[in-house]
Amino acid sequence: MKEGIGPMIRSVKAVVEAEKMANSGEIFLREGAKRSSGVQAKGKKVDQLSAYRSQIMGCGLCRLAGTRTNFVFGEGSSKAAIMFVGEAPGADEDREGRPFVGRAGQLLTKIIESIGLTREEVYIANILKCRPPENRPPMPDEIAACRGYLEKQIEMVKPRIVCALGKSSTQALLNVETPISQLRGKSFDFNGVKVIPTFHPAYLLRNPEAKKEVWEDMRKIAKELVLKLPGKKSDG
Ligand code: URA
Repeated sequence: MKEGIGPMIRSVKAVVEAEKMANSGEIFLREGAKRSSGVQAKGKKVDQLSAYRSQIMGCGLCRLAGTRTNFVFGEGSSKAAIMFVGEAPGADEDREGRPFVGRAGQLLTKIIESIGLTREEVYIANILKCRPPENRPPMPDEIAACRGYLEKQIEMVKPRIVCALGKSSTQALLNVETPISQLRGKSFDFNGVKVIPTFHPAYLLRNPEAKKEVWEDMRKIAKELVLKLPGKKSDG
């Protein structure tokens, strides 16, 4: 009985702590903004994101703090119209401290370029900021501890679309257990932001035949963002 309830209590504690940390970032920013008044107005979003990164990068809310090399906050444009959200850092990302830099990341870069954008113009983050050992799937208490950070990033960047990559990130973000095959390409709401899930690039490396569906999803996203696709004349 004791053992059964322990993980639940730990996970509730982690959520409470995560919310405190996520909100302490806000308090910190408000104070910072007061101190430097108008001077900060220009690069405000960039400053907000980097201040928030500094605030949370020492996170110790879950067991992954004990095994990570780097806390992988996320990167990209603070004014991005689209944010890509993956599952968690892998070995390459853990080593470099940047999201999607391995093989799956190279494919993600191509996917982004297929709709006429560059990595620098979008924002890229993960549900988990730290690598799970041996790349095992994220555990529910790790997601609960970490999701406040992503929510805050979405709030700060204010993208028009969040493209959730793969099963774990889509299910975690939307709080559902529906298979990704039934969610991809559809639109959902997350705190007023449109979420369009698609397959994870790592899945595409194993199942290249699914690229067709991802291309369909990207076309839908490009249409929503009114992007002209590379090599395609405007419809007029
Ligand atoms: N897979 C992810 O979900 N995120 C990364 O950053 C890298 C691989």
